[in-house]
Amino acid sequence: MSMRRIAVLSSGGDAPGINPCIRSVVRTALFHNVEVFGVEEGYEGLIHGDMRPLRARDVSGIMQQGGTFLRTARCLEFKEERIQRKGLRELNEHDIDGLVVIGGDGSMRGAHAIANLGYPVVGAPSSIDNDITGTDMSMGVDTALNTIMDSLDKLRDTASSHQRVFLVETMGRNCGYLALISGVIGGAELILIPERDMEMATIVKEIQDAYARGKTHAIIVAAEGASLKVNEVAAYLKEHKVGFEPRVTILGHVIRGGSPTAFDRMLGTRMGVRAVEGLLDGKTDVMVGLQGRKIAYVPLDEVLAHPRQPNLDYYDMAEMLAR
Ligand code: ADP
Ligand code: F6P
Repeated sequence: MSMRRIAVLSSGGDAPGINPCIRSVVRTALFHNVEVFGVEEGYEGLIHGDMRPLRARDVSGIMQQGGTFLRTARCLEFKEERIQRKGLRELNEHDIDGLVVIGGDGSMRGAHAIANLGYPVVGAPSSIDNDITGTDMSMGVDTALNTIMDSLDKLRDTASSHQRVFLVETMGRNCGYLALISGVIGGAELILIPERDMEMATIVKEIQDAYARGKTHAIIVAAEGASLKVNEVAAYLKEHKVGFEPRVTILGHVIRGGSPTAFDRMLGTRMGVRAVEGLLDGKTDVMVGLQGRKIAYVPLDEVLAHPRQPNLDYYDMAEMLAR
C-alpha cells in the first residue's frame, strides 16, 4: 500500500534530539508528497485522537530546542490491547497509513504492540540513559553527557578550592551508562552504578587514599539507580573522617534539558529521515539504530529482548586513570 499520510509521536522521557528528529520526519515525508500528522503527548494523545497536520513551517526553529514540541506523556493504560486498539482506530479515522514513534524502551514496546496489530510502525530511539539495544547511541545521550561534564567541571573548581569530596548523582534508574562515561571524562575518583556493587568500606579507603596522595579534592559520580545512595555515602564519609568534607549534588532533570549538541541534532535528523524512508519502503515493526556509521533497521523484538548494557571496561579504565 502506498502511504499518503503518516503520523509522528514522541513518548516517555523527553530527550534533546527529539525536535530535530520530528523536523526531519516532517520534512522528509513532505519531500515525498506524504502528509504528516503530529500526535500530541504520545500514546495518551493517540488514544484521544489529539493530532493535527504538520506543515514545513510548523517545524521551523525547533532544531535547537531541547524537549519535544509535540510534548510527551506516560500512558500506563496503553499496555492493554483494548486501549492499543483504540489508538489504532484513531489512526484509521484520521486516514493515517503509518506511524513513527520516537521514545525509549517503553515506547518501543508500545510501537511493537501496534505493529503486532498489523499496523505499519517504525521506532526511533530517544533516551538519555543509552539503555536501548540495537543502537550505539540514542538521541539525547550526547547532550546529557555534555551537561554532566560541564557540571563536573564546575563542581571540581569549588571542590578543590575547599578540599571537598563531591558526590554527584546523575540520572539513570536502571542503567549506569551516564554515570560511567561522565565519570571517565570528568576524572572521577569513584563511580557508583547499578551494574557494579561497591562496599562503603571501599569508598572510605579510596577517598582516604586520594587525600593521602595529595589530591586537592575528590569526585564520586553515582547513578540514581546505584545500590548505595549519595546521601548515605556522604553521611558515612563524614563520620569516617576521610580528609575531605563531603557535599552532595543531585543533577536530576537538569540532565534531560538543554539545546541538543551537534551530535544529537545530526543523529535525530538522520534517524528521522531513515524512519520515514523505512515506512515508505514497507518496513514495519523495526527501529532505526545507529550501528557504526550507518543507520540500520533493527527488528523491534531484538530491540526489546534485553536492555543495552554499558561497556564495563570503562569502569576499570576509570579506576586506572584516577591515580
Ligand atoms: P520510555 O519510552 O522513555 O522508556 P516509559 O517506559 O515510561 O518511557 O514508556 C513510555 C510509554 O510507552 C508508557 O507510558 C506506555 O504508554 C508505553 N508502554 C510502555 N511499556 C509498554 C508495553 N509493554 N506495552 C505497550 N505500551 C507500553
Ligand atoms: O529514562 C530517562 C530517565 O530520565 C531516567 O534516567 C530517570 O530515572 C527517569 O527517566 C526519570 O523519570 P521521570 O521523568 O518520570 O522523573
